[in-house]
Amino acid sequence: MQKKKYILGIESSCDETSVAIVTRNNKDNKPIVLANIVKNQIHVHKSFGGVVPELAARAHSDVIDLLVEKALKKAKIGLRDITAVAATTGPGLLGGLLVGVVAAKTLSSVLKIPFISINHLEGHALSAQLEQDISFPYLLLLVSGGHTEFTIVKKFNKYHRIGTTVDDALGEAFDKTARLLKLGYPGGPQIEKLAQSGDENAYDLPKPLIQEKNSYFSFSGLKTSVAQLVHKQKKLTPKIKKDISASFQKTIGVIIKNKTKNAIDEFVKITKPRNINIVVAGGVAANQYLKKTLIDLETNETKVFFPSMQFCTDNGAMIAYAGLLRYEKKIYSKLSVRPRPRWPLDEKAIFVKGKGIR
Ligand code: KG4
Ligand code: ZN
Repeated sequence: MQKKKYILGIESSCDETSVAIVTRNNKDNKPIVLANIVKNQIHVHKSFGGVVPELAARAHSDVIDLLVEKALKKAKIGLRDITAVAATTGPGLLGGLLVGVVAAKTLSSVLKIPFISINHLEGHALSAQLEQDISFPYLLLLVSGGHTEFTIVKKFNKYHRIGTTVDDALGEAFDKTARLLKLGYPGGPQIEKLAQSGDENAYDLPKPLIQEKNSYFSFSGLKTSVAQLVHKQKKLTPKIKKDISASFQKTIGVIIKNKTKNAIDEFVKITKPRNINIVVAGGVAANQYLKKTLIDLETNETKVFFPSMQFCTDNGAMIAYAGLLRYEKKIYSKLSVRPRPRWPLDEKAIFVKGKGIR
């Protein structure tokens, strides 16, 4: 019988430290998450209204050993049972990446097991597969704090980006809007909460690039418009905050739905798939309003998949799973690999931020 594989995954690219252990079920070969320990840093960054990179790095290094221990305990295995260790190597904040990468390389050297460098965006791209069978190719809508893109996942390790944001990421737009409304950090979930009891038709906000028949986004004008709206108010009452949150969220819903339709057209043209599988991943995929909006696009041929909440926001399980797939294909990394704060999933994709669309 084949020896059971246990892949330990480390995530530390932003403001969550996470260590997870993933294996496969002996019977059906499906992935099983044995442990997924996540420690957020809300208490560290709260008073600053956003992530402070140096403090984030320190907070990661404070807990990383402890989280490895906790994950092993939860998975009921020992250090010597680990088959390979995977860590997010980018994109993200350099200090945080270093903490996770150094921990992973240390485990790899001491235990004499492979080290596997993982692109954080690949983790998100594959995260929905942790719990659901999704056949390739699929259209990925990745919406996180640092990234917003439509990417065709042709198969594992074959990524073709067809659209992205020319300025802010969607999570960033949520966070900046939340800051303008003085809702604190992290902003996305706060906006969603307030929006539930707000009037989504109270304010008419712009929808940049909506008329363009492509899969590119722009969110910075929307944020500016919220800023102007906020400055016009004599007092930012709870009702105004709720109404702006709801109007903002509705506007985002319209933009995302529209752009996803364009992306589907492109996806169909390029891949000519039998069925249209759409996977929405990243922190913003945790937003239930957006989920409902996108589920609306489902038809007999079109299915929209979301990871469960715990695998939408940053987590070690998606890194361990990407590590498992790489391990099975014997794609290991050298210990000389360095963190890459900027690392596109599709290496051939052009850099468009601030440059307009080409
Ligand atoms: O994927 P993630 O955990 O980290 C990055 O890779 O960036 O995404 C974090 C982003 C933040 O901008 C956060 O505000 C947003 O996801 N987010 C949400 C929600 N939960 C997290 N945005 C809108 N609604 C939510 N419920
Ligand atoms: Zn992420």
